[in-house]
Amino acid sequence: MLVKIDQIIKEIQSLSLKSRDDADSFRLRYLSKKGIIADLFTEFKAVPPDQKKLLGQRINELKKIAQEKIDSYLTSAGGPSSDKHEMDLTRPGEPKPPGSRHPVSIVRKEIIDIFARVGFVISEGPEIEDDWHVFSALNFPQDHPARDMQDTFFIRRNPDILLRTHTSSVQVRVMEKQQPPIRTISPGRVFRNEAISARAHCIFHQVEGLYIDENVSFADLRQVLFYFSREMFGMETRIRLRPSFFPFTEPSAELDISCSICGGKGCNVCKYTGWVEIMGCGMVDPNVLDNCNIDSDKYTGYAFGMGVERIAMLKYQINDLRLFFENDRRFLDQFSAAY
Ligand code: DAH
Repeated sequence: MLVKIDQIIKEIQSLSLKSRDDADSFRLRYLSKKGIIADLFTEFKAVPPDQKKLLGQRINELKKIAQEKIDSYLTSAGGPSSDKHEMDLTRPGEPKPPGSRHPVSIVRKEIIDIFARVGFVISEGPEIEDDWHVFSALNFPQDHPARDMQDTFFIRRNPDILLRTHTSSVQVRVMEKQQPPIRTISPGRVFRNEAISARAHCIFHQVEGLYIDENVSFADLRQVLFYFSREMFGMETRIRLRPSFFPFTEPSAELDISCSICGGKGCNVCKYTGWVEIMGCGMVDPNVLDNCNIDSDKYTGYAFGMGVERIAMLKYQINDLRLFFENDRRFLDQFSAAY
């Protein structure tokens, strides 16, 4: 029996497996339930006890060699599949669910579309800005709190370079390059040194609007904001302007809309006031026009700026700002039909 086993080992060693068919017949011949090695084990049962140890070891060795032979072929052939039709072109494809647009992108586009319909063109500017475009040209006094390290991300090596805290910097860039009439809208990302919570984030998105021409009045501002609010939140929306302060506008105001959730009756979204604030606005301060070489005796203009996340939160009743930045599919998938 020993001789027979050795012969089989030699036979196996001299074989070379070249295809899956070879591997299949090899397995059948040597390793299957009715194969040569299984037969040897049956024979082994009748062997006298004093020969059992040696023979048992040898059969196990043979089995190992056979197994290694087939394993090494299968690894080189790329896996154990014995399927002859590996490319079954009739099988249905793997489903790849389509992505969905991010709610911030949806709302940003909607805001842009609404203003584009009344003649505003898009302008963009850099996210890494200098002090002039973010603060100085916009009439921020040197000691204004918005310049504080608490609010603004500065570059350590050069305090003149910073991450823009608002997209109002783009209105400066546009006015420096272009003489009126100017009618532009500037969407973009802004950065503030804030602790992240349900209501605040260090990154968010704004849209800034600017209109400069001869005889632009506060009534024009009011009208365009009324138009925007109704297009965005529905035709029954009412607006109100509350006096406010921004260094770059005079007079300045904040725009409230009647709460789109309760229709102005009072609910927890509007804190039972019936109104929600959606943006800041005002008439461009003549100092800002002068800083940008626009004749403030001849031209007047209005500006406004809003947070895209804030509009999206009101529109879709989202109550935590952090959801916009977590990229959780369960959140994002809800907007797949929204566009
Ligand atoms: N830049 C302001 C902010 O980030 C928003 C703003 C208020 C923009 C009034 C304006 C404006 O253009 O007129 O809070």
